[in-house]
Amino acid sequence: MFGKKKIKSTDIKVLPRHVAIIMDGNGRWATRRAMPRTAGHKVGSENFVKTVDACDRLGIECLTVYAFSTENWQRDAEEVEGILKIMHAYIIKYVPELMKKNIRLRILGDLSYFDEKSRAALIESQHKLENNTGLTLCIALSYGGRNEIKQAVEALIKEGVTEIDEQAISDRLYTAHLPDPDLVIRTGGEKRISNFLLWQSAYAEYYFSDTLWPDFDESKLLEAIEEFGRRKRRFGK
Ligand code: IPE
Ligand code: IPE
Ligand code: MG
Repeated sequence: MFGKKKIKSTDIKVLPRHVAIIMDGNGRWATRRAMPRTAGHKVGSENFVKTVDACDRLGIECLTVYAFSTENWQRDAEEVEGILKIMHAYIIKYVPELMKKNIRLRILGDLSYFDEKSRAALIESQHKLENNTGLTLCIALSYGGRNEIKQAVEALIKEGVTEIDEQAISDRLYTAHLPDPDLVIRTGGEKRISNFLLWQSAYAEYYFSDTLWPDFDESKLLEAIEEFGRRKRRFGK
C-alpha cells in the first residue's frame, strides 16, 4: 500500500523512438515453479504479445525483441525446438492481428540456420506486413551482433566497395534504415549485452531489471521508459 506510485502511460513525457528488449529469465521463471523450461518460454511469449500491444498503444515507433541468439543454438535440442516452435507459431498466428494494427514486421537474424519451409514462412509473414506504417516490430531470431557485422563486411567485399564509412556498414545490417535503439532493456537480472545489437546500441541507454521476463508487465515497462526520460544523453558532446 505504501509502495512506489504506479506509473501510467499519461505520466510518460519523453518517448524513445526505438525500444529494444533482451527478454531474459524464462528458464528460471519455470524452474522456480518446478515446470519445464519450455513452459517458461510459453509464458514469456504471452508477455511478449502484451508488450507489443503496450508499445503499439504508447505510440513507439520501433520495438525490437531478442527472442533467440546465435549462441542459443547450443542449448538442448528439445529446448531449441520448443522456443522456435513457439516463436514460429506466434509469427504465423499473429499476422492478421498485426495487419489489423498496421504493424510492420522485420525478422533480424541469420535465417540460413532454418529449414527451407520455416524460412519461407518467416519471409512471407514479413512480406505481407511490409507496407504497414504503424509500429515496426523487429524480432531478433537466430541473431548475433558479431555475425551481423561480419556479414555486412562480407557484403561490402562482395560488392567491391572500397571506401567504407559507418553508414555503409549500417546499411548492410539487418536493421538497415531503422533508427538506432534509444533504450535497451534487459530483464532477468544479468548485466550484460549477450551479443545483442552491438553496432546499433553505441549510444543507447541501458536499463537492467531483476524481474524475470514473464513477470515484466506493462507497469514495469512504463517504469523503464519513464527512467529513460530522466536520463541526460550527451552523445559525447
Ligand atoms: C530467455 O530466457 C529466452 C531465451 C534465451 C531464448 P532464458 O531461457 O535464457 O532464461 P534463463 O536466463 O535461463 O532464466
Ligand atoms: C540472451 O539471453 C538471449 C535472449 C534473451 C534471446 P541468454 O540467456 O542467452 O544470455 P546469457 O547466456 O545469459 O548471456
Ligand atoms: Mg538467460
